[in-house]
Amino acid sequence: MTAAVVEMRPERRLSEKPTSDHLVIDGVCKTYRSQRGSLEALRDISLRVRAGAFVSIVGPSGCGKTTLLRCVAGLDHPTAGEISLKGSAVSGPPDNMGMVFQRDVLLDWRTVLDNVLLLTEFRGLPRRDWIDRARRLLAVFGLASFEDRYPWELSGGMRQRVSICRAILDEPELLLMDEPFAALDAFTRDELNLELQTLSQRTQSTTLFITHNIGEAIFLADQVVVMDRRPGRIATVLDVDIPKPRALSVREGRAFAEIGRQVRQTFEDLGILRASP
Ligand SMILES: Nc1ncnc2c1ncn2[C@@H]1O[C@H](COP(=O)(O)OP(=O)(O)OP(=O)(O)O)[C@@H](O)[C@H]1O
Ligand SMILES: [Mg+2]
Repeated sequence: MTAAVVEMRPERRLSEKPTSDHLVIDGVCKTYRSQRGSLEALRDISLRVRAGAFVSIVGPSGCGKTTLLRCVAGLDHPTAGEISLKGSAVSGPPDNMGMVFQRDVLLDWRTVLDNVLLLTEFRGLPRRDWIDRARRLLAVFGLASFEDRYPWELSGGMRQRVSICRAILDEPELLLMDEPFAALDAFTRDELNLELQTLSQRTQSTTLFITHNIGEAIFLADQVVVMDRRPGRIATVLDVDIPKPRALSVREGRAFAEIGRQVRQTFEDLGILRASP
């Protein structure tokens, strides 16, 4: 896999680092209703995310993480509360958002490169202006020789990497990632953690990143949101004050271990993790 060489788009530079809240989630509740009854998925979720921040979300299966992400993406609507982006209420999918779904949603009849370039068609952008960037991203994610393959010719982890390339093609201001690395082996996961860190430092996308891996959550994040089981509530938000960029070796350091301990302690207090013997 090559080093991260994806260039920044010229119009957004590091010196423009934004500082205000980009995303505000205010008292969000979500209850799914069907003929079989109602199911309370989220209860009173409030969170402020400053522009450019990387926020990891961890919580037990079924606690509403995907539901929350879908509401932020405008693909679903809260039953109560409000979500706003840069001061405007979210009522549908916002412009300039990239999303990596928990199950990849690649189009099987399009090649890898054409899947990555999908956005250019949605937005009516000239494809030729984006091909080089799409190819550079595929190279960064170890897929350079697969651009003419079809999704059904790829492994699960490769498909997920294509989904990531597609989501970040235009360096979205808001990046929503739902367990993007769950299907990867530990080594590839480490490598892609580093690549994602490099990319997000360059693009400064405001990022919500769902994972079940506590180490990965801490490694990438400025803040880790720990959720309680359904109806999903935020149990605590922990700051990760470890300077970036981080080497993988920070995972062996004391600061990292302490945050990991706090996350595990929170899960133990909630009865989600059993206390260590
Ligand atoms: N479209 C839907 N209709 C009805 N219930 C739903 C729907 N989507 C999710 N749910 C329910 O809402 C709850 C939260 O689901 P969600 O997918 O948000 O959890 P999650 O935290 O992402 O879980 P996982 O870690 O397993 O992906 C679950 O009980 C699920 O059954
Ligand atoms: Mg989910």
